[in-house]
Amino acid sequence: MKKGLKESIIFKVNSAHPQLEKIKNAANVIKQGGLVAFPTETVYGLGADGLNIKACSRIFSVKKRPANVPLILHIACKKHLFDLAKKIPREAKDLIDRFWPGPLTLVLPKSRIIPQIVTGGLDTVAIRMPNNPIALKLIKYAQTPIAAPSANLFRGHSPTCAQHVIDDLNGNVDIILDGGKTSLGIESTVLDLTVKPFKILRLGGIIEKDLRKILGKAKLADNRKKIKCPTNNFHPSVCSPGKMILVEKTKDQTSKMQELALQFRMSGKKVGVMATKENKNKFNGCVVKVIGSEKDLNTCALNLFSTLRSFSRENIDVLIAQGFKRKDIGLTIMNRLQKNIKKGSP
Ligand code: TXA
Ligand code: MG
Repeated sequence: MKKGLKESIIFKVNSAHPQLEKIKNAANVIKQGGLVAFPTETVYGLGADGLNIKACSRIFSVKKRPANVPLILHIACKKHLFDLAKKIPREAKDLIDRFWPGPLTLVLPKSRIIPQIVTGGLDTVAIRMPNNPIALKLIKYAQTPIAAPSANLFRGHSPTCAQHVIDDLNGNVDIILDGGKTSLGIESTVLDLTVKPFKILRLGGIIEKDLRKILGKAKLADNRKKIKCPTNNFHPSVCSPGKMILVEKTKDQTSKMQELALQFRMSGKKVGVMATKENKNKFNGCVVKVIGSEKDLNTCALNLFSTLRSFSRENIDVLIAQGFKRKDIGLTIMNRLQKNIKKGSP
């Protein structure tokens, strides 16, 4: 496949019943070493043949991603796990029986067939079976594991629809399979099975509680303490452009948010507020966007990245984000918001 195409080819695909001609076309591109962006149930992936060194190196250059951040290999059939990983613990079987296809990525010792470029030089590999008919058919017809990070530029927000992929990567990927909005909107949970107790490396679509139900309490390290909220004690006058403030879920959360919004507005800043539906009318003079209802955090997770992306087009000086209770999917959302603060942009 040629590099530097002017525009990517975009195929609209029916996500429940993918048109085979389009899938086979995209699978051939993968076989020839090209790049295909495709939907999974979590976010869109930027896919290449996971056993082709050159194709995988293109993923890193297109994403502008450092070579030491490893890729996830996507498979369409559970038994392929045994070709790609070794020393697979007994518990892995219970996990894949329960959660695959689905948003759980397992880290295991890698087999020799996997090129070093995929694992960023590590001797472990991350593998998952996505729960999306387009993704599964693409992998099946490509007849190879597909290496795929989220299809966004490095440090950007993961894409939850084809337009996000176009915004970030148009022209640098050969084909974009547009299967509409993804169903979860947040990435997979990454679980390291090479350490004891097993360790969650990234919170995602599968929550800790559900992993514990399968693994038993003692088998999983307690991750919660690591996922702390940053302090939000800075003053409006030291606010740099594009800064985000995450306001914790407390009884006085709304009034704290209102107070901050007012302070920033008084100091001449353009203020964005990412709020729940219940709070949307409480911030006069601000650019308010609704992430979802407080009563439905799964929808808030689904809308998180697209809402953050839409703020980055608003030219705001500061974003005040309404935080959520650190429990289940709420904890995952808080973790992503926290990462966003570290990135320093809305
Ligand atoms: O939902 C998802 O997981 C999406 C879709 C496309 O499948 N993919 C995704 O990939 O989010 P990416 O590359 O954006 O994030 C993969 C994460 C990274 O944080 C990476 O460090 C971690 O998985 N990872 C990959 N291989 C690893 C390994 N061998 N050991 C530890 N962490 C690993
Ligand atoms: Mg990513």
